[in-house]
Amino acid sequence: MKFNVLTLFPELIENVFLNSITGRAADKGIIELNTVNIRDYSKDKHKKVDDYIYGGGAGMLMFPQPVYDAYLSLKPKSTTRVIYLTPGGKTFTQDMAKEYAKEEELIFLCGHYEGIDERVIDKIVTDKVSIGDYVLTGGEIPCLVMMDSISRMIPGVLGNNESFVEESFYDNLLEYPQYSRPDKWMDMEVPKILLSGDHKKIEEYRLEESLRITKELRPDLYDKWAKDHPEYFEKLKKKLKKAEEKRRKEEAKRLANK
Ligand code: 6GU
Repeated sequence: MKFNVLTLFPELIENVFLNSITGRAADKGIIELNTVNIRDYSKDKHKKVDDYIYGGGAGMLMFPQPVYDAYLSLKPKSTTRVIYLTPGGKTFTQDMAKEYAKEEELIFLCGHYEGIDERVIDKIVTDKVSIGDYVLTGGEIPCLVMMDSISRMIPGVLGNNESFVEESFYDNLLEYPQYSRPDKWMDMEVPKILLSGDHKKIEEYRLEESLRITKELRPDLYDKWAKDHPEYFEKLKKKLKKAEEKRRKEEAKRLANK
């Protein structure tokens, strides 16, 4: 995968992306980062990239020429997706990360100030994407968020292949709780089953925990999982109900003892 990023802050993108897991994957050549500084393509004698907004309104807007020329410098294929990061876009999801991870190459367009002149967006952008319902000062952080999550869907990036495989099974579920040493910390113990060495039981326990937590915090994701894994869900339903009742009783007892 080659990630191309059109931005006014290439160092910001490089400094974050070329570190840790994504940095290692880039060193290995599994993924590649190519940043283009939009300002380098400004034909203005002061390298200006933004101007006042027609019709009035607060702030400045990036005008089309430098953005378009920066885009052309990539010699883009007509099939390459061009993702514009904007709070007005479609909300980014894990499923989208998985789809984008299949592409050979992507182009990200990061706006700043009040955004970018609509005409160049209409001319080059194929996908408008947001990372959630809040407003940020620019597209760079959303771009980094997207590249991070797309990267970890690319085989070889996570090194430890298992985290990748496991996740496909736990698709759209929240994580089960995990524990490391020591087995007793303060007055809290690691669930006994995790020390049992019974891998099948441990797998079951983890899935049940994931389902329980997802049902509580993200019923929307829980319903999606149930739909995506119908046979498995049918098998588990009774067990989940029992576990839920047991937990409720324990919780009541705990509260009574307080
Ligand atoms: Cl993609 N851009 C900006 N500026 N703000 C955002 C966003 C994107 N996604 C959520 N908030």
